[in-house]
Amino acid sequence: MKHHFETEAIRTQTERSQYLEHSTPLYLTSSYVFEDAEDMRASFADQKVRNIYSRYSNPNTSEFIDKICKMEGAESGYAFASGMSAVFSTLAALLNAGDHILSCRSVFGSTQTMFKNILPKWNISTSYFKIDEIESIERLIQPNTKIIYAESPTNPAVDILDLEALGSIAKKHNLILIIDNCFATPYLQQPIQFGADLVIHSATKLIDGQGRVLGGITVGNAKLIKQVYLFSRNTGPALSPFNAWVLSKSLETLAVRLDRHCDNALKVAVFLESHNKVNLVKYPFLKSHPQHQLAKKQMKAGGSVVAFEVKGGIDAGRQFLNSIKLLSLSANLGDTRTIVTHPASTTHAKLTEEERLQTGITGGLVRISVGLEHPEDIINDLNQALAF
Ligand SMILES: Cc1ncc(COP(=O)(O)O)c(C=O)c1O
Repeated sequence: MKHHFETEAIRTQTERSQYLEHSTPLYLTSSYVFEDAEDMRASFADQKVRNIYSRYSNPNTSEFIDKICKMEGAESGYAFASGMSAVFSTLAALLNAGDHILSCRSVFGSTQTMFKNILPKWNISTSYFKIDEIESIERLIQPNTKIIYAESPTNPAVDILDLEALGSIAKKHNLILIIDNCFATPYLQQPIQFGADLVIHSATKLIDGQGRVLGGITVGNAKLIKQVYLFSRNTGPALSPFNAWVLSKSLETLAVRLDRHCDNALKVAVFLESHNKVNLVKYPFLKSHPQHQLAKKQMKAGGSVVAFEVKGGIDAGRQFLNSIKLLSLSANLGDTRTIVTHPASTTHAKLTEEERLQTGITGGLVRISVGLEHPEDIINDLNQALAF
């Protein structure tokens, strides 16, 4: 029987051991034993579905993958040591030398660096479209284009891309659509419903939710995942069983955490919008967001990230950050602790100014990953910091 999202997140569990534990134990083992020579031969020949070696699979990792597959409506998946190893291994598994990627300009800084500096080593090139240029993507398709790559909401400008439009373009041209769903999580948005072939997560963010471990995952079409799996099983980017155990436990509370993250973020966005030192506030569920209707169509709530611009540009932005008392200045997001960052001087500092502006990052742009503290305390700290 199919259960609700919250129930699957809690009740999807690896088989109990002979100890009949209630909560899944930690399987810290690098390898597994075989009954006899024939069992070993058949296992290595992929004639049996079983654990062989933890670079291939592990009970904790499989439980984590099963949960995310159910949440995303995906056929299968593979879990990675970090979000970036998920992005790299997925692309490296699916692309050949000479292939071409069509990517939204607004993708995470390290992903952009990969497109710009790393994949060209294998003659893999990337062309970019802006968030509001989806209709014109077809003009950028080349005979060697293989993948359309995008994030929604985008990091850090919190723009929304039309996933259904991307899905139908990918289908029409027989391209693989990959969506980084890190900002939304499967609780708020399921890109496969809109035509994505693969969904990638940095599990380091809201999936862990407490700023403890790194992790990544790719889920989706079984045939594509098989290629990702075979590439990864031989190149070694596997998630550690310990991190998988932490992440699978975290998924049990994803829905309740996200409900509160989104409530707090909306309150923070409404407060910022009313403040006279703030120029622009971007939050998908604010009516003033340019793609508000689209956000409501494809997301259950607005997520945990609010972007805004302090009046006075880069100097004012830095002064604001220096006045923060309670909240954290940190590079992560999706933590219980509210985090304030300045993308232009940190996560996106390696881009040129022109590239930054094309990604929606102005000098004064501040990104807040709204946490689970009491919303009045978050707002009070922002309010006193804006009084510089
Ligand atoms: C949208 C997005 N994708 C991918 C990543 C990379 O994930 P990780 O830091 O787990 O490697 C991040 C990290 O911030 C991110 O925000």
